[in-house]
Amino acid sequence: MAARPPAPARGPLPTRRSLVLGGLAVAATGLTGCSAAIGPDRAAALPVPTPQTPSPGGRVVTARLTARPATIDLGGPVVRTWAYGDTVPGPLLRATAGDVMRVAVENRLPAETTVHWHGIRLQNAADGVPGVTQAPIAAGSAYDYEFRVPDPGTYFFHPHVGVQLDRGLYAPLVVDDPDEPGAYDDEWVVVLDDWVDGTGRTPDDVLAGLVADGGGDRGDHMGMGMGGMDHGMGGGSERGSAGDVDYPHYLVNGRVPAAPETFRARPGDRVRIRIVNAAADTLFTVALGGHRMTVTHTDGFPVEPLEVAALPIAMGERYDVVVTLGDGVFPLAARPDSKSGEALALVRTGSGSAPSAGTTVPELDRAEVLTTRLVPTEAARLPEARPEQTRPLTLNGSMSPFRWGINGAPYGENDSLRVDAGGRVRLEVMNMTTMSHPIHVHGHTFAVARTGLRKDTVLVPPMGGLALDLDTDNPGRWMTHCHNIYHAEAGMMTILEYTP
Ligand code: C2O
Ligand code: CU
Repeated sequence: MAARPPAPARGPLPTRRSLVLGGLAVAATGLTGCSAAIGPDRAAALPVPTPQTPSPGGRVVTARLTARPATIDLGGPVVRTWAYGDTVPGPLLRATAGDVMRVAVENRLPAETTVHWHGIRLQNAADGVPGVTQAPIAAGSAYDYEFRVPDPGTYFFHPHVGVQLDRGLYAPLVVDDPDEPGAYDDEWVVVLDDWVDGTGRTPDDVLAGLVADGGGDRGDHMGMGMGGMDHGMGGGSERGSAGDVDYPHYLVNGRVPAAPETFRARPGDRVRIRIVNAAADTLFTVALGGHRMTVTHTDGFPVEPLEVAALPIAMGERYDVVVTLGDGVFPLAARPDSKSGEALALVRTGSGSAPSAGTTVPELDRAEVLTTRLVPTEAARLPEARPEQTRPLTLNGSMSPFRWGINGAPYGENDSLRVDAGGRVRLEVMNMTTMSHPIHVHGHTFAVARTGLRKDTVLVPPMGGLALDLDTDNPGRWMTHCHNIYHAEAGMMTILEYTP
């Protein structure tokens, strides 16, 4: 993402169909435009990091991360990949709202990298976007990130270079709320992922394949070849499909279902589960067999508690739920939407034998779209204001050819969304494609118009629209993009920018 793509194969010459139906006026230029964004003119505009001070009572939290090649046991399959240290996910980082985090990142990868702190409303210079907020961290060198974490919640971090997120380079970041009563007995972090690296293909191979065959990785996506005007052909669910890649493995906390992580507790315990979807290309539905879950937060912000049987979660989204545990052994299952396979962990509070991998979890069939049902708590609402600036964010593209863009052109060729500081901006997202796309805005939390739900990543249904309101109170140049890493890398990104 936001970096030099691996030598993009120049796409075939555009047919009339791809020009018209794909909705990308500049399809002829293919993916090559991405590199334009990191030209010298952009480098000159890199923001200067400002030393940060904690809020009164806050601390400075220091951490170290080493990005490096690693051999990882996924609970059977052993893969060569890139990771933060020697685990996948990488180490959990934790601070309290108002703290300053100083994270020293050492790059021992054979490639340049950066770290993006997904969802954190931080200073622009620490946002980790190469060519936009910093120079990439060269192989063999190091970089120190310093940022304040103003809002409590469940976050994660990952590189913003190419498709590196689809390796093992991701880890959760939890910001505690000093004022939260913590009305639960235990807390678990559940990170979901789709896994291909080291199984014969790297994510770079996957991207090259998508570009070369126009999304031919999956046979059942034929409808996508028709481009953006083909209502109702994609995915077959209300959410539509958001992924193009069939993965050999789906993981909870770095484990395949055959050797799941087991969470232990006592019957009757109330547990807070922080769920992160770190997948590159997979929507999941999550359920805990035999239980209902109470959703309490999304993307860090509190919502009016809502009890659900199952929870859909898109790439880049986070949900916190609270569950009161029964007695026994239960599957905590995540089913990839419109793909086969599953991700699994176990919850054990009593005796009994573990459900085997592949056991059906009936709750999984009862997922509802939450974006329209969740309501923010009063404290989580944006202050009442009328958006005085409106900007379109039109999502374009097609699987075949594999080209994606925003406002009619791929990243590097589309214009930044320039807005004024100190106001309320409305982004009018219109999805002109037959897939759903999780749209993520850096450095801000928006309110989904109508419900006011505060989020930083939201799934926009196929041929659907959403208005997102945000306050321009954090100047800088902020990536705004699809969190399907392959879509982002193929052009579905733009920049929201303003100066103080
Ligand atoms: Cu996780 Cu640009 O984002
Ligand atoms: Cu997308």
